[in-house]
Amino acid sequence: MRKPVIAGNWKMFKTIGESVNTAVSLKPLVSNANHCEVVIAPVFTSLKSVADRLEGSNVKVAAQDVSDQLKFGAHTGEISGDMLKDAGCSHAIIGHSERRAMYGDSDAFINRKLRAALHFGLTPILCCGETLDERDAGKAEQVVSDQLENDLTGLTADEVAKIIIAYEPVWAIGTGRTATPEQAQQMHAYIRSWLSGKFGAGLADGLRILYGGSVKPENIAELMNAPDIDGALVGGASLEAESFARIVHYNG
Ligand code: PGA
Repeated sequence: MRKPVIAGNWKMFKTIGESVNTAVSLKPLVSNANHCEVVIAPVFTSLKSVADRLEGSNVKVAAQDVSDQLKFGAHTGEISGDMLKDAGCSHAIIGHSERRAMYGDSDAFINRKLRAALHFGLTPILCCGETLDERDAGKAEQVVSDQLENDLTGLTADEVAKIIIAYEPVWAIGTGRTATPEQAQQMHAYIRSWLSGKFGAGLADGLRILYGGSVKPENIAELMNAPDIDGALVGGASLEAESFARIVHYNG
């Protein structure tokens, strides 16, 4: 059985104080959520303070990115995987579409970041997803499998087994336009069968594939009903503790 993951991506929102307040409010609201793993991803500057306040709780902390570099050195602006571990992170979001589109994260770069995260024992949450133009042109599956093919290049099956995948159609992110459960299920099933072909059915059956893009308390339950949707990566609706807690408790 795949344990669902509900992850909140806070993007570039919240000061340290605001992040800590939200995390502290969230903690008791989800403390009995044994049915899923709960993860939040604050900005880098808030990570240590948030992780300290969540220590011993069931809420895990993710970074929103990770350096591709393995050794300390002259890499201005970079934060390495072991620094993220040191700050209390267990997970790292990698390859979010905003980074791909705005900050030049290529598949080759994402591949190096994945390797670095795995090297330091961080669980990568690898994002993939097509734009609206690509979907309208009937290329959604091709785009997603190309991303995965290139992002996972050279990784062993044992390494891939440690990754969480997040399918986030770009046209559904922050737009209020969620993929229907049928659209999401279709892509998730496609991703799983692609993984099965590449790495074997056992690995594909065990891998968690999250859906992301305008997930809200109102639509999470029907998304989670789909057999291949194993959780959610939530942006806007994760910023308020109460709304994120309602998503975590999608099962009622
Ligand atoms: P959204 O963002 O929930 O605000 O659409 C999701 C994401 O970008 O991870």
